[in-house]
Amino acid sequence: MLNDDIEKVLITEAEIKYKVHELGGIISSDYRGKDLVLVSVLRGGVVFVADLMRSISIPLTIDFMAISSYGPSTETSGVVKVLKDLEENIYNRHVVVVEDIIDTGLTLGYLLRNLESRKPASINICVLLNKPARRIVDLPIKYKGFDVPDLFVVGYGLDYQQNYRHLPYVGILKKEVYEI
Ligand code: IMP
Ligand code: MG
Repeated sequence: MLNDDIEKVLITEAEIKYKVHELGGIISSDYRGKDLVLVSVLRGGVVFVADLMRSISIPLTIDFMAISSYGPSTETSGVVKVLKDLEENIYNRHVVVVEDIIDTGLTLGYLLRNLESRKPASINICVLLNKPARRIVDLPIKYKGFDVPDLFVVGYGLDYQQNYRHLPYVGILKKEVYEI
């Protein structure tokens, strides 16, 4: 059932499910025999990592970081503050950073530098959504779900003012929601 505030579904629940299983299969074979830790970014990455981890068939651990970027609600400034750090030591381990979306790349760029300073054995990025139109920091994205156009999307972890994260699909909000 469609949420009243959603103009259009961009990626359906079934499409996401299929893609997440595909990514889980690839990660399972890429990291077989390796000490894998999924690092998810609160809060947007939570839905994706919860599904992704269950489609990975090799041993793994998960950990979380919470970061905030300063600036207007729908823009990223690149000035990032760590609100919650990892619990685990990632030294010499194989890290996959799991994020909901990469837009300008500023947030992930910062996070990557931060994690690299802890000397993991390897570090790769897994994003559900890639919005290439506004990229400022060019990052190597090893695992990607979908490319999306330069529109503000919500659902499957992504929010607008903390709402809509629970929607099982990715959709575009109605204009009047922003204009209130
Ligand atoms: P970046 O630093 O510009 O790559 O932005 C990444 C963060 O901005 C994501 O983790 C989201 O929290 C947020 N973001 C960027 N685009 C969208 C969108 O279309 N919908 C919801 N959040 C977004
Ligand atoms: Mg986020």
